[in-house]
Amino acid sequence: MAGSTARPFGWALIGCGNVGRSHSRWAVESPDIDVCAFCDINEEAASRYYEQHEGRYYTTDPARVFADPEIEIVTIATTHATHAELAIAAFEAGKHVYLEKPMAMSTADCLRIYEAMQVANRKLMINFSIRFSGATRAIKSRLQPAKVSNAQCMLSPADLTRWQWDPVLGGGPAL
Ligand SMILES: NC(=O)c1ccc[n+]([C@@H]2O[C@H](COP(=O)([O-])OP(=O)(O)OC[C@H]3O[C@@H](n4cnc5c(N)ncnc54)[C@H](O)[C@@H]3O)[C@@H](O)[C@H]2O)c1
Repeated sequence: MAGSTARPFGWALIGCGNVGRSHSRWAVESPDIDVCAFCDINEEAASRYYEQHEGRYYTTDPARVFADPEIEIVTIATTHATHAELAIAAFEAGKHVYLEKPMAMSTADCLRIYEAMQVANRKLMINFSIRFSGATRAIKSRLQPAKVSNAQCMLSPADLTRWQWDPVLGGGPAL
């Protein structure tokens, strides 16, 4: 990616919800990013993010973002079940994609995203934020390679009416 002397990258956020807030803060503070658009199917959310973080416009239509030649990078922070179609559409429009985890709802959809990325010759990064945090990397550098590992599933207290618990929309959170 460019250094601060290069032209900033045109950027848009699709999904102006909880995690979209930290993406927006990061984008506004980065000299390498030109904040262009905020998109959400919920117009109130898109307009609120636009007012809070500026940018050029807000929209409820991801297609407007994909058709915008000024936008080079799209962050997708929507509900899990929408990741595959939005990411593939972004690649088909020639955008780089910063995609929230989980990448998609199935291995087949992950592979479709990967193939679209290859065809478009663009970059994809999944936001495994904890894996890349300074604290995690510092801990990992002090650990011996694991010989035995335990996989555990931890469910935290949550609002069970949220989409994350729906098997179709979110599949159920696993930490
Ligand atoms: N990397 C991390 O540490 C981390 C942390 C929290 C959440 N997440 C991920 O971020 C994503 C969003 O989570 P959240 O908690 O912000 O959810 P949220 O419900 O607060 O926000 C999702 C937003 O996406 C919008 N949306 C849904 N479908 C859309 C579409 N087709 N086009 C445009 N907008 C659409 C919704 O209206 C909503 O505003 C999830 O995939 C979640 O797993 C990642």
